[in-house]
Amino acid sequence: MIRELRLKNFRIYDALFMECDPSLNIIVGENAQGKTSIIEAIYTLGLTKSHKTAKDYPLIKEGADYAKISAKATLKNREALLEVVFSQEGKKAKYNHIDHPRLSDYIGYMNVVMFAPEDLDLVKGSPSERRRFLDLEIGQVNRHYVYHLNQYKKRLRERNEHLKALQRKHSEPDALLDVLDDQLMHYGLKIIRARASFVDMLRDKLKPLYEALSGEDAVNFRYEPSVTEKTFQEEMRKKRKIDVVTGATSIGPHRDDCGFYFKDTEVKRTASQGQIRTLALALKLAVVDIIKESKGHPPIVLLDDVFSELDASRQNKLMNLLETETQVFITTTSVADMHLKGLKRYKLFTVQQGTIKGVNTHGYEQ
Ligand SMILES: Nc1ncnc2c1ncn2[C@@H]1O[C@H](COP(=O)(O)OP(=O)(O)O)[C@@H](O)[C@H]1O
Ligand SMILES: [Mg+2]
Repeated sequence: MIRELRLKNFRIYDALFMECDPSLNIIVGENAQGKTSIIEAIYTLGLTKSHKTAKDYPLIKEGADYAKISAKATLKNREALLEVVFSQEGKKAKYNHIDHPRLSDYIGYMNVVMFAPEDLDLVKGSPSERRRFLDLEIGQVNRHYVYHLNQYKKRLRERNEHLKALQRKHSEPDALLDVLDDQLMHYGLKIIRARASFVDMLRDKLKPLYEALSGEDAVNFRYEPSVTEKTFQEEMRKKRKIDVVTGATSIGPHRDDCGFYFKDTEVKRTASQGQIRTLALALKLAVVDIIKESKGHPPIVLLDDVFSELDASRQNKLMNLLETETQVFITTTSVADMHLKGLKRYKLFTVQQGTIKGVNTHGYEQ
């Protein structure tokens, strides 16, 4: 749980200081005033990368040479200081003043789950969106995964470079390719195993959550790997000649996908916008549950522009599904669209042009 958030040169913000509510924080403002930037900062502080951009430089305020996000937080009942800095030299992540050069050692101290309008792309979009989702969420609960994935990507680049070299020389697969294959498979198998078991966990949670939100019960979620644990080696051998001709690795976890189904029909073929939205919501709630079970405490929940889009009954269901000890941040352009009556307490921040113009607390005994 974040107690104090500080930003320096982050996106639209010169400087921001925010004393956060332990349960519910609502950030309200017109478009392009800096609402999303605040929760993007919280997400980035947890995972060392933004959910919106693969590159880090857009996070740095125009004209500045670094950006800094920091927070005083209570994590597992302990006080902690988290800091992430982006600059020309790359990024640095510190936990209680200690630098973590290997970011996979830092990710996971503070867990976050983002609900954003882009989540619809998880259902409708390309396989790469779903791989990104799996990788990020598995990485939050499994430090080794981040390391293994980085190793896999590195080996894949090496193998592809070698394939291109062989292609140029019109050569046959050689002994170096044997070595590169083995290394790629070593890490690839770890990725396949982790993804398979994570998708299993997600599916078990997704079904009841989707049902609770929609009243429909036929949703399914499947891992659709490019190759399985069993066939990886054999397939790899079969594809070597083709890989040399094309200069690329044709199979492996970098080509994985996963899919959502209603009974046996792919959701993206038939589902309505409303069903897709509810499914994306249920999927993220499933991630919240998995993190809670694996870490022993719920992640910080970030809802960017999605809450006001829900009807009153789904807003209520969502708030009931999130436990009271969960810290939640919600952005919205209009509080009027939010059904706040049932809520015991919350803190409302009004943002305008990169500053917090007002803070109102509700339901506090003063
Ligand atoms: N690196 C940056 N430097 C300065 N301003 C930025 C940067 N990145 C985004 N912005 C500005 O931030 C604003 C968008 O902020 P955002 O948090 O997305 O707003 P909201 O969610 O309230 O619509 C835009 O005006 C955009 O131009
Ligand atoms: Mg926004």
